[in-house]
Amino acid sequence: MSTAHYPARVRLVDVSPRDGLQNEPQPVPAAVKIELVHRLQAAGLQEIEVTSYVSPKWVPQMADNHEVMQGITRRPGVRYAVLTPNLKGFEAALQDRPDEIVVFGAASEAFSQKNINCSIAESIERFAPVVEAARQAGIAVRGAMSCTVGCPYEGDVPPERVGMLARLMKDIGVQRVDVADTIGVGTPLKVQRAIEATLAHFDIDHISGHFHDTYGQALANTLAALQMGVWNFQSSVAGLGGCPYAKGATGNVATEDVVYLLHGLGIDTGIDLEALADTGAWISERLGRPTGSRAGRALLARRAAAMGGC
Ligand code: HMG
Ligand code: MG
Repeated sequence: MSTAHYPARVRLVDVSPRDGLQNEPQPVPAAVKIELVHRLQAAGLQEIEVTSYVSPKWVPQMADNHEVMQGITRRPGVRYAVLTPNLKGFEAALQDRPDEIVVFGAASEAFSQKNINCSIAESIERFAPVVEAARQAGIAVRGAMSCTVGCPYEGDVPPERVGMLARLMKDIGVQRVDVADTIGVGTPLKVQRAIEATLAHFDIDHISGHFHDTYGQALANTLAALQMGVWNFQSSVAGLGGCPYAKGATGNVATEDVVYLLHGLGIDTGIDLEALADTGAWISERLGRPTGSRAGRALLARRAAAMGGC
């Protein structure tokens, strides 16, 4: 069997410090978030989504954004991204010099209202000056597109809505976009249609997959996106995460599981899977629950069995 139709390398953005921890019921100390970033970069992650500059009334878990960004020891070659929903958030983020900012919109009107308290059209009006300011400051701009296959309030989201949002993002100068399955309801063909709609406005090098795993489809969706040539993905160590405004949705696909899949396909990630599994186990222990990564659990069990056998 040939792997010629898969990309030779894949870049992963680990979003666990942001998407992974934004929904935790109990406060997670900034020191733990900082150590998480350090462990991820030591494991070989070259892109990390560290925090968000949103209203602390809306998402209290991210209120320590300055402390976390200022506490991390940056590694050359690693890109540190943060979410900024409006100019107020961007101005706050600018003090901490992220490498990339993320404006986040939705392909569903209802989700846009619930998540950022405005319509899709209003969100684009808010993002436009943020994008302009970021690009003037030499900071890269990504656009997250939520609910590209399904919405917790509206149900199925047609690809045309995704195409429309991608066009609006492109028009204001967003450089690359995430096709996000916020509530993890997507299946491979639906995800491929959402990517296809995005391809009308962004080329394949500027599209990433962001798949939550609620229905256990995120790895299948990753494979479906890889088959289209997508080579940028977001994932979360230990499968942490969820959006406070998408109740019932579980975390992102686990970074360990994606790396296991990619290495199995002979695709280069630059990531040390054993170190990553340790990181997943470490953060899960801090949060007081087992890791959500199947590959992480299997690797740790295999290691424990090997040590027991010595
Ligand atoms: P709003 O209430 O409409 O904002 O919230 P406003 O402009 O009317 O201001 C109201 C108050 O918020 C004011 O304070 C502002 O100063 C303050 P007050 O005068 O009442 O004391 N405020 C801010 N404070 C800090 N940082 C800011 C900021 N902006 C205003 N940036 C807003 C609008 C967007 C701020 C709010 O709705 C919000 O913070 N939403 C955050 C939602 C969020 O973080 N969701 C999770 C991330 S998205 C996600 O997880 C999806 C993703 O993973 C992809 C996927 O899976 O789909 C990316
Ligand atoms: Mg998400």
